[in-house]
Amino acid sequence: MIDKISNLRDAAIGRIKEAVNSAEVEELRVKLLGKKGELTEMLKDLKNMDIEERKQFGQKANALKTELTEIIEGKFKELSVKDVKKSLSSGSNFDISLPGTNFKLGSLHPVTIVQKEIERIFTGMGFNIVDGPEAEEEFFNFEALNIPKHHPARDMQDTYWLENGSLLRTHTSPCQVRAMQKYGAPLKVIAPGRCFRNESTDASHENTFFQLEGMMIDKNVSIANLIYVMKLLLSEVFQRDVKIRLRPGFFPFVEPGFELDLNCMICGGKGCPTCKHSGWIELLPCGMVHPNVLRYGGIDTEEYTGFAFGLGLTRLAMMKYGISDIRVLNSGDLRAMEQFSVR
Ligand code: DAH
Repeated sequence: MIDKISNLRDAAIGRIKEAVNSAEVEELRVKLLGKKGELTEMLKDLKNMDIEERKQFGQKANALKTELTEIIEGKFKELSVKDVKKSLSSGSNFDISLPGTNFKLGSLHPVTIVQKEIERIFTGMGFNIVDGPEAEEEFFNFEALNIPKHHPARDMQDTYWLENGSLLRTHTSPCQVRAMQKYGAPLKVIAPGRCFRNESTDASHENTFFQLEGMMIDKNVSIANLIYVMKLLLSEVFQRDVKIRLRPGFFPFVEPGFELDLNCMICGGKGCPTCKHSGWIELLPCGMVHPNVLRYGGIDTEEYTGFAFGLGLTRLAMMKYGISDIRVLNSGDLRAMEQFSVR
């Protein structure tokens, strides 16, 4: 019986070697290893053998099956290389055997992904997207936002001053005034963009980060409208119920002003370096636009009121994706960025 196997092996290997094209190899594969192939047929004899013989025969037959499968695959490869060479020598100058150029597809930065998402939510509510300069005039960054020259609130937003007297904007709020001056009331705008501060960096502070400003001005706009829009925004972004808290907050350009905090999603509220061990992240400062600011924007304060908010876009991206250190976002480390492979 064992002889039968080694005879089959010798004959099969010889036939495979002699094959001159893939069709012939395929035919042999079926003849030898197919359902009704020679090796399969041989295995049918197993039932007439005693245990010891059956064991030996079975092992040999299986080993042969593996060996022949490998030889057949090798032959297929050999013939396909020959085919390519033949097509080349027949005058074609296209070498299909060359490996392709493997270029990497980029991916969107997590802040960009969140920005686009929020733009989608707000444009759906009829807001327009506006822009403003990163190198901003002192007037728009401070004065027009009710932060006069010697106001202590300026100290909280130290930044980089340029030689021509302008500065790198410390927030996106200047876009509020620019939008009011340009478009008047009623107004519904958002302004995403890069901001700068002279900060010592740590897990939650960077000198360069992103905010998204929002403003709505119309007749009879109230705090109720503000809260509704903020809640809608957060539930859309996180696609689930989020825990928030609202507390009074001071910003010279709103009255009353609020801090809307989000329960820290990195630690679940237990306290971690990202939330400064408080369990809460300051995410959405907001309020009713101060009449002085409306006036700087050229809006009639008798007729119109409005709300505004300044969303920490960078922080929101960190919460959404569980990024615990803000510095990763500006690091240019592709290993970090490639994980967010939305294109
Ligand atoms: N500009 C403020 C900051 O960067 C954030 C802010 C607070 C924006 C309240 C607003 C607002 O529009 O109403 O700290």
